[in-house]
Amino acid sequence: MLTLTTVDELRAELDAARLGGRSIGLVPTMGALHEGHLSLIDRSVAENGVTVVTVFVNPTQFRPGEDLDAYPRQLADDVALASERGADIVFAPAADEVYADDHSTTVSVGGITESLCGAPERRGHQHFDGVTTVVAKLFNMVQPDRAYFGQKDAQQLAVIRRMVRDLNFRTAVIACPTVREADGLAMSSRNAYLSGKERVRALAISRALRAVSESFLAGEREVTKLAMLARAELFDVDSVEYLEMVDFETLEPVSEITDATLVAIAAHVGNTRLIDNILLDPSPDNSSGIDPNTTPRETPSAIHQSRTL
Ligand code: PAJ
Repeated sequence: MLTLTTVDELRAELDAARLGGRSIGLVPTMGALHEGHLSLIDRSVAENGVTVVTVFVNPTQFRPGEDLDAYPRQLADDVALASERGADIVFAPAADEVYADDHSTTVSVGGITESLCGAPERRGHQHFDGVTTVVAKLFNMVQPDRAYFGQKDAQQLAVIRRMVRDLNFRTAVIACPTVREADGLAMSSRNAYLSGKERVRALAISRALRAVSESFLAGEREVTKLAMLARAELFDVDSVEYLEMVDFETLEPVSEITDATLVAIAAHVGNTRLIDNILLDPSPDNSSGIDPNTTPRETPSAIHQSRTL
């Protein structure tokens, strides 16, 4: 496996692979790799001739005062893990390789970036501008046939799909199910910030989603009732930034679950901001909720099997 740091080296390697007829899979990450990231790498390795994992803590998607400086950086471990899982290239550029001093272009997706994590009173859509700008740049650097993203960041996935459609990128966006710890906590690089006690309290988030899922499976479709069940579980977190049920395509709030609906939570435990979500789909061929404990290695989620996210 190669570890590369410049766009020129990366392009030279990938041009050679392309000439050899190999398809290219891209797994963009900010590093501190865990099983969630590794599940994306596994899928890319299974589906492509070459898998590129990018490790880049992208400064433009952090707000001032957010955890940019504290964000875990452990490149040597990441390289070892990516290599173990069969990746071909780790691309880990320095910030000045990605952003010229006078960088002045932003890729900005409207509409769906302005709710949930992008709501004006929360992080604002600048966070997603940072994500879409860096992902567009990575797509241009790598020109992948397929790029792999986690359902864990459901809004990010929807935003990237929209960017790909609106800007006619040729890359296919592949959604991968959320990987969880055995007790239900969604894996995240930010879980490393949690103390032992905070980690126990953080379980309230997946419990809340499970309560919603179970009630949905039992036939409940009213959002106010489902939200009450979730709130009842969320006492253990320090604050709930949002608990929302939104249309899966438009991310607009719904009052009744009649179509595929995303149940999304952002909450703070101590100083750590955590997000998680599940998808509920009432369509007759898929009348199941998603068990928040599902991981790809156990029962693949019904949603994941039946539709492309
Ligand atoms: P990062 O948080 O490192 O996540 C990289 C990818 O791993 C994302 O697609 C994310 O959804 C996925 N992922 C994270 N936790 C997961 C889990 N528990 N199960 C499944 N997939 C999981 O998301 C980013 O980085 C950045 O915004 C990035 C897209 C790299 C742009 O900078």
